[in-house]
Amino acid sequence: MNAILLQADGIGMRFDGFQALAEVDYDVKENSVACIIGPNGAGKSTFLNIITGTLAPTAGSVRFAGHAIAGLPPHRIARLGIARKFQIPSVFPTMTVEENIDVALWGGRATESAAEMLEMIGLSTRRQTLAGDLAHGEKQWLEIGMAIATGPKLLLLDEPTAGMTPEETRATADLVHRLSSRCAIVAVEHDINFVRALDADTLVLHQGRFFRRAPFAEIEADDAVRDVYLGRR
Ligand SMILES: Nc1ncnc2c1ncn2[C@@H]1O[C@H](COP(=O)(O)OP(=O)(O)O)[C@@H](O)[C@H]1O
Ligand SMILES: [Mg+2]
Repeated sequence: MNAILLQADGIGMRFDGFQALAEVDYDVKENSVACIIGPNGAGKSTFLNIITGTLAPTAGSVRFAGHAIAGLPPHRIARLGIARKFQIPSVFPTMTVEENIDVALWGGRATESAAEMLEMIGLSTRRQTLAGDLAHGEKQWLEIGMAIATGPKLLLLDEPTAGMTPEETRATADLVHRLSSRCAIVAVEHDINFVRALDADTLVLHQGRFFRRAPFAEIEADDAVRDVYLGRR
């Protein structure tokens, strides 16, 4: 059984009188794969923003690898080992794929070579290609590789498969499972095809609150979850 890496307790977030999150408890084990889903406005991005330090919660605590991190500035949380990949790729378009990975490895904690990183993200044959010339999905994988190259203990992905083809979406789910040999990964995702392909532990948020947490197969079979998605409650 893997140890707990991240533990959030009683998280609340109030924006000018609007309660975006309330009483959310969550934990992430080392080298686990997990998913957070919920309808638009459920509080998913707000929750990620609290974990990365972009937002300070108005209630609750977050412990990560032995540190109390709620309210710390993002650069300090990043240094403790939490990396985040945003929806919009931020690769260096005029550098090659390999150079992008080299930049990310530089100063990071990862011990593998750029060649090993490229193999892992499935871009070995594209290493001399300019990052700006990659297909949309490949660009996302490169950015995931760059995040991993910094050697995080936890990688957060916000809608990693937005704009991807069905094949790219499935390949991304496989990639996430491969990456869990080196860090824990939590993906926030709207695309149910990715969540199904990932087939992982899934937290459902609804109106800023905990709704369900279970393996995806159980979540998918849950009528109450379906009602939430169809707006029936
Ligand atoms: N900075 C902010 N100021 C005010 N309200 C916000 C802010 N950020 C998010 N919200 C509100 O909080 C709720 C949750 O938003 P968000 O976390 O982005 O949801 P999700 O990512 O699940 O779609 C929404 O109602 C949103 O309008
Ligand atoms: Mg969001």
